[in-house]
Amino acid sequence: MKQFDFLVLGSGIAGLSFALKVAPHGRVAIITKKDRAESNTNYAQGGIAAVTSKEDSFELHVRDTLEAGAGLCKEAAVRTIIEEGPARIAELIELGMHFTERAIPRSHGARELDLGKEGGHSKRRILHAKDITGREIERALLAAVADQPNITIFENHLAINLITSQKLGYVGDNQCLGVYVLEMQSGQVETFAAPVTVLATGGCGKVYLYTTNPDVATGDGVAMAWRAGAAVANMEFVQFHPTCLYHPKAKSFLISEAVRGEGGVLKSMEGVEFMDKAHPLKSLAPRDIVARAIDSEMKRTGADYVLLDITQKPARFIIDRFPNIYQTCLSYGIDITKEPIPVVPAAHYQCGGVLTNVDGETEIGGLYAVGEVACTGLHGANRLASNSLLEAMVCAHRASKHVIAHQPKPADFKIPPWHSGNALNPDEMVVVSHNWDEIRRLLWDYVGIVRTNKRLQRARNRIANLQGEIQEYYWDFIVTSDLLELRNLATVAELIVECALRRPESRGLHYNLDYPQSNPDWAQQDTVLRKSP
Ligand code: SIN
Repeated sequence: MKQFDFLVLGSGIAGLSFALKVAPHGRVAIITKKDRAESNTNYAQGGIAAVTSKEDSFELHVRDTLEAGAGLCKEAAVRTIIEEGPARIAELIELGMHFTERAIPRSHGARELDLGKEGGHSKRRILHAKDITGREIERALLAAVADQPNITIFENHLAINLITSQKLGYVGDNQCLGVYVLEMQSGQVETFAAPVTVLATGGCGKVYLYTTNPDVATGDGVAMAWRAGAAVANMEFVQFHPTCLYHPKAKSFLISEAVRGEGGVLKSMEGVEFMDKAHPLKSLAPRDIVARAIDSEMKRTGADYVLLDITQKPARFIIDRFPNIYQTCLSYGIDITKEPIPVVPAAHYQCGGVLTNVDGETEIGGLYAVGEVACTGLHGANRLASNSLLEAMVCAHRASKHVIAHQPKPADFKIPPWHSGNALNPDEMVVVSHNWDEIRRLLWDYVGIVRTNKRLQRARNRIANLQGEIQEYYWDFIVTSDLLELRNLATVAELIVECALRRPESRGLHYNLDYPQSNPDWAQQDTVLRKSP
């Protein structure tokens, strides 16, 4: 058994920020299922929303966040996260993060941070590193982690199950004691123990057929917390990013909302603008509205995609501001300085998650959740663009302060080693890959941008069957990463459908044709699920 003071599951901005803050207080294990830089954070293009300019104010950022959240944000959480943002940004810069700067006009060469604009923001407030903000954040944080002797990173290690006192049969408050982890190269399952475990595992985009997320986004944290008995909330609010590149060879490539922020316009295949009919902010309307308008345009015309046109901007500006998008599109034969970009909506962000407060505390003692895996109340029914990296940084900081203040001690419970089935039947791997595909298509077709009760019911029934097959397979065979991720995807799919069925209205990202309006009775109500004991 490996004993640490802090276990951190995930190596994106939330996990690395937390690890750096607690490292002076004890030994930290970062457990990550691919290599250390492979996280949702690494693919973030847009940036971090924070109030840093004189033209902006906390009040305006709060107002924009509440408006996007369609009545479900927790205002106190929104205020805390927004007001603590600038201090965290300063720390990130101190650590070595390079945000893009711009010359201040008429100031003899003085420079300030460049601020981007994205949908739903009333001011320019997105700090960014060109269009590779996430990659630059990962670089800076990983460089700082490398200097910390107290932090050990375990790559290619996939967390299987949280170890809790109740699961071990102890009565009393449920305590998280650690985690069973699959070492993916040897296939051995190792036991990691610590008084504090932090879920920083990101979201679940891979539960949908089309997603902007990398392969690692299989909802592992939500699924593990759910199995362990933590409450999960608002999973019906899956954000579809309006503009993912449509190309047969491109997998999950995002075209940042910042492209629309800098003047990019959505058009039909015939080159006609259509967003003016949907919202006064046109192509820069909040994401739920833009994604639904594209979906309806595609359904109306039968087109496979719509177009995003930024060719009216000077080529030099486009290449300098969006070097990654420019180069990637060019590699697929699309010169975005000369022709519009074919785009489709794709699953992008999980606004719900493990229920926490802004300190990352879950309902299980010693278990914290930070970042996309958590539901703090910041996003409500629809996340405001670029608020997620902000939330991850602020809540990681607050969680670190919370655990340090409480000085948790190792619990006095006996943790048994992992027991698994011992059958190995590679022929049956076809079941795993078939079920992966089936879940992702099912969610895309039945639990997508526009929902109906009938489709949700169908999805619920089919997922229940799949859960049965997976459970059987899980207990009989030696666990593999594909099987474990499939099990997590099925759990997350079940939670999304269950939350969607429990909300008899349309609100924010959850749009149900059987209840096309918002219902004021549901305005303040989260959809909270707790597993029956
Ligand atoms: C983007 O660059 O459009 C993504 C920003 C975000 O999802 O917050």
